[in-house]
Amino acid sequence: MRFLLRRLPVVLILAGTQLLLAQQESSAPPAVNFTAEQDQQNMMEQLGIKALRPGPSGNENAPNHANYEESKANPYPHVPDPLTLNDGEKVTTAQMWWEKRRPEIVEMYSKYVYGFVPRNVPKVKWTVRAVDREMIGFTPVIAKDLVGVVDNSSYPAISVKMHMTLVTPANAKSPVPVLIMFGPAGFPNPNEPRGDDLEQINDAMKKLLLQQDPSLAQVFANHPAWEPFNASPLFQVPQLNADGDPPNQWELAAAGWGFALFDPASVQADNGAGLTRGIIGLVNRGQPRTPEDWGALRAWAWGAGRALDYLETDPAVDAKHVGIDGVSRYGKAALVTMAFDPRFSMVLVGSSGKGGATLLRRNFGEAVESLTGGEYYWMAGNFMKYGASDASFGSMNPGDIPVDANELIALCAPRLTFISYGIPEKGDAKWLDHEGSFMATVDASRVFALLGTKGLESFGDYRTAKMPAVNEGPVGGELAWRQHDGGHTDAPNMKWFIQWANKSMGYTPQQ
Ligand code: GCU
Repeated sequence: MRFLLRRLPVVLILAGTQLLLAQQESSAPPAVNFTAEQDQQNMMEQLGIKALRPGPSGNENAPNHANYEESKANPYPHVPDPLTLNDGEKVTTAQMWWEKRRPEIVEMYSKYVYGFVPRNVPKVKWTVRAVDREMIGFTPVIAKDLVGVVDNSSYPAISVKMHMTLVTPANAKSPVPVLIMFGPAGFPNPNEPRGDDLEQINDAMKKLLLQQDPSLAQVFANHPAWEPFNASPLFQVPQLNADGDPPNQWELAAAGWGFALFDPASVQADNGAGLTRGIIGLVNRGQPRTPEDWGALRAWAWGAGRALDYLETDPAVDAKHVGIDGVSRYGKAALVTMAFDPRFSMVLVGSSGKGGATLLRRNFGEAVESLTGGEYYWMAGNFMKYGASDASFGSMNPGDIPVDANELIALCAPRLTFISYGIPEKGDAKWLDHEGSFMATVDASRVFALLGTKGLESFGDYRTAKMPAVNEGPVGGELAWRQHDGGHTDAPNMKWFIQWANKSMGYTPQQ
């Protein structure tokens, strides 16, 4: 009795907490089910926007097609200066960059462009689901399929399970550099049953078939060499893509690198209707975003950061040399990842365009109005202001954005940053504005130089710098540029990326 009495307050408190949790759970509002249009409209109302300027058409024959005339491409005389503080003071030392200017740019890019990662994002628990020994081209590898489950005890109606597959060379003598690649995850080349194992499966299969239809005995007798299943050839001939290059995975494995396939869709859906689901929806307990909340690009980048958390615990991985790679919208996501998470030591930014490495102030191809229109969910809600034609604050245009892509690239300094494009003739559309990315890269070089590394500063002023020829380079240093002669892919630049990164890391695989 005395024991019980002494424990009573504790018991009561515990019971109370349980009750509170149960109440919270039952009072949790159901997740909002907006269409993308409704979600966008909701954000416009929050921002006081009545109308958005429509984005241009990508079809060059359409009357409202995007501008492709270089003479009209630079309506704003200057981009914001990465090396001037918001109060006008010039940044002259590395210390000023780290302590003052970089935090200013991070804050502005979060607030006005990609959104903030909320402070209360729940923890992720990674589990290895299965391990497979496979071949990637001619390289034996170990492939681990992983799931990263986000703690959803705050809102059990939404679950987020991130999917990643880590592939490392089986014969590596020491931890290897790893490139995380945005895209579908899963075992790249599952190890198939062969020899006795395959025979056992085929025997069982034939027995099953005979049970189903005993008259098959005659068919089997007529075709004694036939087996239900055959093994695929052990070695594949190199599969060259349309640009004549082996797949990225083959090149990385052959060079003694690891790679991780990381599925962005397992973090956040690639559409506006999904914003009340996925990691963004989980943190908001199924409710719509507020204007400074993260968009899909920042959420994908956050996911890549959690992938790196796992890689830091895996002894096969040299976690000091983990890179991030993506093409197109995932090229934007790769640049955002690198810019905000300083643990990433390198990035390959493939054909990223507006919202990636291309200057937002440029009027060429994809426009800010594309990013505030159908693509609004990649960005923070706040970003829509710059496409507003009629709003409580009047109207705004790209020249009002407090930051630009030269500063986004500068956030990657002094780390290894490779900006990659292909050519329009092969499908890397003019829409992407290669020139605008080159200008941003040239201007960002001043920050790399300030931090003691090298970019494209020898090209001079970004407004007059001449783009290098196709297939030249990589030009630059730690910040590098190369336009290959292939299409909307980074594959033709992968070998250049590997050589360039190896040189800088001093990496020679000991196999
Ligand atoms: C569209 C979009 C681009 C994007 C691309 C893609 O072209 O406008 O921003 O990069 O799709 O991801 O395929």
